[in-house]
Amino acid sequence: MSRTRIRDLPGAAEQEVVLKGWLYNRRSSKKMHFLQLRDGSGIVQCIVTRDDVGEDDFAQIGQIPYESAIELKGTAHADDRAPGGVEVHTSAVAVISAAEDYPIAKQDHGPDFLLRHRHLWLRSRKQVALMHIRDEVIRAIRDSMHELGFTCIDAPIFTPNSCEGTSTLFEVDYFDDEKAFLTQSGQLYMEAAAMALGDVYCLGPTFRAEKSKTRRHLTEFWMFEPEMAFADLDDVMDLAEQMLTRIVSRVLEHRQDDLEVLERDIEKLRNVTAPFPRISYSEAVDRMNAQGHSFEWGGDLGAPDESIISSWFDSPVMVHGYPEEVKAFYMKRDPDDPRIACGVDVLAPEGYGEIIGGGQREDDLDVLLARIQQHQLSEEDFRWYLDLRRYGSAPHGGFGLGVERTVCWIAGIEHVRECIPFPRMLYRIYP
Ligand code: 4AD
Ligand code: MG
Repeated sequence: MSRTRIRDLPGAAEQEVVLKGWLYNRRSSKKMHFLQLRDGSGIVQCIVTRDDVGEDDFAQIGQIPYESAIELKGTAHADDRAPGGVEVHTSAVAVISAAEDYPIAKQDHGPDFLLRHRHLWLRSRKQVALMHIRDEVIRAIRDSMHELGFTCIDAPIFTPNSCEGTSTLFEVDYFDDEKAFLTQSGQLYMEAAAMALGDVYCLGPTFRAEKSKTRRHLTEFWMFEPEMAFADLDDVMDLAEQMLTRIVSRVLEHRQDDLEVLERDIEKLRNVTAPFPRISYSEAVDRMNAQGHSFEWGGDLGAPDESIISSWFDSPVMVHGYPEEVKAFYMKRDPDDPRIACGVDVLAPEGYGEIIGGGQREDDLDVLLARIQQHQLSEEDFRWYLDLRRYGSAPHGGFGLGVERTVCWIAGIEHVRECIPFPRMLYRIYP
């Protein structure tokens, strides 16, 4: 008899089934055990009665340690009161591998303990729900990009130069005396690819040697980076808005159960509809000052400032036109005001802060060269990048969406560390 996945049990009502999974929990009375079996696709309650399995087996089943791998035979019954609408009346249980004393108990553990046991913590209900949501977000991105005619172009991980400033680079020994850096962003390569294929994107790991211990920072995180040829800042904002609404509606459509496990307030996600408010940096600064939150024009927005700005709206807000000094060397300057960069940050609602950063790129060879010199970057390393402005330079732009920050917000989680399977953070690289 072939094995049934727990998620498929509703379609197997009143049939005999074989399940394989792990013992998640058990409640017992004199004559009955209520086993919670999990197999990754779901959790189901399995009822074992002394009358059905006999005295000896009943006693033995009562002793199976939690997280043991087991095979269970029984009959699926539709029951409205059961979680998931099905329960299994058990005829036999075989232990495939008995677990040792499981270190993660049902009561609360501190974050340090859980992070050191991440390889086991992943099995818990909430973490499984989060991984489902992460998977859905990534699939929504890939499917949407395909529908919109973008080509996936994978960016390299080893790079000879920096993209987002030299202070957060991870340096690695390459061959002989050469040094390489782990990529901070695939953007520069996407710019080259956009000149070859038009509309492109990458989705992969990126690295930042950031000595920040905040709930938003990882040293290794995944970024989705679309790039479009013949596009300006407005086109970039249109795409950001479209992608975020597509992602959120996909999760609402397919991952309602997981959002429920996480006790996410779904109404808040229903507010994520286009158009998103667009506000310039200067307008945001004026409005903050008018509210008594003093902020000097010219500085970068910190997390508390972002929280104030996002509190004005129910949906994500796009803040555009930052002072050029706070933005990267490649940003195009506003033709009407050279103090301003044609960049945009998208701030998530509910205080989650920046989830997207992007904008229009400088497409003028001389201006770009001057900025590379001004930022004391090596002209030699950027020769290939400058070539893009030599051979058919075209206005272009794109953005980077942080996958974990986006999952964190959609799932309503406190810290990005739970939104990636195996988080890498300052001083934490185990397991
Ligand atoms: O704003 P950032 O630094 O932009 C870039 O890297 C551009 N080159 C992207 C582009 O235009 N193609 O990073 C983009 C996003 C941020 O908005 C944030 O969501 C995420 O990446 N991010 C981080 N997520 C987790 N941990 C960190 N340390 C992050 N740094 C950035
Ligand atoms: Mg940014």
